[in-house]
This record gives sequence, C-alpha cells and structure tokens, in this order.
Amino acid sequence: MTVLTRRIGAVQLDIIVADITTLGVDAIVNAANTSLLGGGGVDGAIHRAAGPELVAECRTLHGCNTGDARITKGYRLKAAHVIHTVGPVWTGGTSGEDDLLASCYRRAMELCGKHKLTSVAFPAISTGIYRFPADRAAEIAVRAIVEMLPGAPSVGRVVFCCFSEPSAKLHAEALARHGSPCA
Ligand code: APR
Repeated sequence: MTVLTRRIGAVQLDIIVADITTLGVDAIVNAANTSLLGGGGVDGAIHRAAGPELVAECRTLHGCNTGDARITKGYRLKAAHVIHTVGPVWTGGTSGEDDLLASCYRRAMELCGKHKLTSVAFPAISTGIYRFPADRAAEIAVRAIVEMLPGAPSVGRVVFCCFSEPSAKLHAEALARHGSPCA
C-alpha cells in the first residue's frame, strides 16, 4: 500500500508498507550483518525468498563492514539484485551510529549508480533488531537518499519499503520535507 509518493527531479520516491521480498524492482536492499550469511528480520525473509544460492554467493564475499554494502544476484526473488548493507547497532547515539547508517544508504545508492540500476527498494535499516530509533533513522535515510540522487542518474525510482504504518508515517514526514508532490 502506497503511503506517499514524491518527485525530486526525474526521480519518483515512494513510501509503501509491504514485504520487500515481493517487490519487482531492480534491487532490494537487505539489512544484513557483517557475516552476510543471513539472520532474522528482513535478512531472514530475503534469504528464504531468494533460496540457497543467495547465501552461497554471499559466502564468496567474505563479509561486509558496518556502513558498507555489497551486491549479489536476487535468484528466486522478483528483484534481479540484492544489495546487502550492514547497519549500526544503536548504542545511544555517541558512537557514530548516525554516520554509519547514512553510509549504508549512500553506499547502496553508489552501487545502484555503478550497476546502472533504475529502481531500488530499501527497508528501514537498523530499526529492528539493531534498535536504532525509528524517527531518527527515517530522517537519516531520506536525507542520505535525496543527497545521493544526483550521483545515481540511472535511478528513476526509490521505494522506502516499510513494514508497518508507523514506520511509513515517519518516512512520509521526513520525505514531505524534501521534494514536491507528484503531479
Ligand atoms: N520487508 C520489509 N521490511 C521488513 C521485513 C520485510 N519482509 N521484515 C522486517 N522488516 C523491517 C523491520 O520491521 C525493521 O523496520 O526491516 C527493518 C529492519 O529490521 P531488521 O530486519 O531487524 O534489521 P536490523 O534492525 O537492521 O538488524 C539487522 O538483524 O536479521 C538480523 O542478520 C540481521 O544481524 C542483522 C540484524
């Protein structure tokens, strides 16, 4: 269900409530851990939906640092690619968590640009098991994506794929401060 759609330049930004594994975009972003070998939450859902070839490819990547991102195929997913990124664990906000979370979105957008992807969907990285405050994370996510749009000219659509109405509302409030309503 679409909660809000905005346009910034030629890019459409959608905020929806959905299971990210169902989206037919070029890439879905996974909120992974540094091993890249799967876990719970959206990580578990993506690996279940993609099938065992995903973790097999992830094994060849030998992990990923917090704030960084790696791209793989999507296998049985509708999405052609999965961009795995590792968000920070919230420990009170004085250990650089904000910058590390912003880096996840920036690095994912850089990979979209490098691979000339046209559409990408993000979950609310770090706001589940990693306990990052959802309102603070939504603002960081929207700001980082908006800042990166010029650097990823192939991207025509960005989806913030929230898993609850409250999460979608926070992203909608953040996005309303950027961009203009879609005509
Ligand atoms: N589709 C979209 N969003 C989802 C889905 C889904 N199928 N499942 C969960 N979410 C949402 C959660 O509600 C939360 O808002 O994704 C957001 C991120 O939550 P987590 O998946 O718990 O990820 P995170 O907080 O970044 O913690 C990462 O959890 O699963 C492990 O291996 C992972 O160790 C890593 C840690």
